[in-house]
Amino acid sequence: MIKVGIIVGSTRPGRHSEAVARWVYEIATKRADAEYEIVDIKDFNLPLLDEPVPPSMGQYSQSHTKAWAAKIAEFDAYVFVTAEYNHSTTGALKNAIDFIYQEWNNKAAGFVGYGSAGGTRAVEHLRLIMAELQVADVRAQVALSLFTDFENFTVFKPAALHEKAVNAMLDQVLAWGGALKTLRQSIADPIHSAPRPFRR
Ligand SMILES: Cc1cc2nc3c(=O)[nH]c(=O)nc-3n(C[C@H](O)[C@H](O)[C@H](O)COP(=O)(O)O)c2cc1C
Repeated sequence: MIKVGIIVGSTRPGRHSEAVARWVYEIATKRADAEYEIVDIKDFNLPLLDEPVPPSMGQYSQSHTKAWAAKIAEFDAYVFVTAEYNHSTTGALKNAIDFIYQEWNNKAAGFVGYGSAGGTRAVEHLRLIMAELQVADVRAQVALSLFTDFENFTVFKPAALHEKAVNAMLDQVLAWGGALKTLRQSIADPIHSAPRPFRR
């Protein structure tokens, strides 16, 4: 079975990301086709990026970076739960993503967005970021509305139809996550996996 990390993408007091991630986790664990775990970026207390060497070189110096890298390395695929902040993802999630590099490579990802327009602009930005991280992002995504899936914009009460969307997204994440696990094993040689600071 592959391992999927469900990443809680915001850190502010009163955030909705925890409730959304828990809902995704509950749907996912009913499937019994992968190991699922909630990964809360808040638990890692990451400051603004404080690594002197670009993360793509893999020379992490800080204990918080090493702890975050070790956790992310455990997974074959991810589900990013993201709010939309100013038409993008949250600063906290972007910072957490930027902290490390090779731990993301050749893995799969799906997205659960929320906001006034379903968090779709946040997810579109994440898709651009995934390309640079060599993460295969699946087409199916979950778009939750602050107007119809949160009572009074606060209490998370997702419409029933979204459960189907979560499962469709997970189907694709598991298919690509499994395929890329095989790929990672086949390219684990020193020439192809040599760290480089930037893409040429
Ligand atoms: C800094 C900030 C910027 C926001 N910008 C947008 C936005 O551009 N589009 C949108 O749909 N919602 C926006 N919102 C509303 C959030 O999507 C909504 O409050 C959401 O619940 C925040 O996620 P969180 O509770 O996990 O922090 C913004 C909220 C914050 C705090």
